[in-house]
Amino acid sequence: MNLDHGRKFDGSQTRGWRQSLLVWYDRNRRDLPWRSDRDPYRVWLSEIMLQQTRVAAVLEHYHRFLQRFPTVQKLASARESSVLAAWSGLGYYRRARMMHAAAKVIVKKHGGKFPGEVAELRTLPGIGRYTAGAIRAFAFREDAPILDTNVMRVLHRVFVGRGDPKKQKSALWNLSEALIPKGKGYDFNQALMDFGAMVCTARDPYCLLCPMKDFCKTYPFTAR
Ligand code: ADE
Repeated sequence: MNLDHGRKFDGSQTRGWRQSLLVWYDRNRRDLPWRSDRDPYRVWLSEIMLQQTRVAAVLEHYHRFLQRFPTVQKLASARESSVLAAWSGLGYYRRARMMHAAAKVIVKKHGGKFPGEVAELRTLPGIGRYTAGAIRAFAFREDAPILDTNVMRVLHRVFVGRGDPKKQKSALWNLSEALIPKGKGYDFNQALMDFGAMVCTARDPYCLLCPMKDFCKTYPFTAR
């Protein structure tokens, strides 16, 4: 794989890194409620809530929202004011409005069944490339890539090591897709998220604890 302006990162390093990541995830994964669920509505809700919001804050709201609106049908038929009330405390209310609008489309146009096609998903209000990938990987268990700021940071540090990750989005999307071990899109993507949240953090990453440090282009980023 040729990822950074001519420097090759060979296949065995790539394989070693992703294999170690899966082993690390197996031992360290966070037990999060949306991980035991394949219902696309619940996966969607968790991913929208997790945008710009810490996991701890989402945990407080996720179950409450689902009690109030347990299905996409219930959400679609609700009044906007009650949807916003259930969102209260999470901020960025535009997310709730978009979900409400998308729920109506899912009920009207798709008979209440979540579309699995990426092109259809992307037409829904508030569902961009990341959320479509997350729904496909986490609900439909496809080997679909994801790239949010955390995943972008991790992949950029490990495999590229220079330049501004935001300017390399398209290459990082390709990388995110190419790295997925066949049939393991679900675990691999969740592992990337946990690793970004717990080890390869934005500030002061725990490089010394990182089991993949030998495969990393940026190591040692910090001596912590
Ligand atoms: N951040 C965004 N999506 C997430 C998920 N599924 N698990 C943990 N953190 C996340």
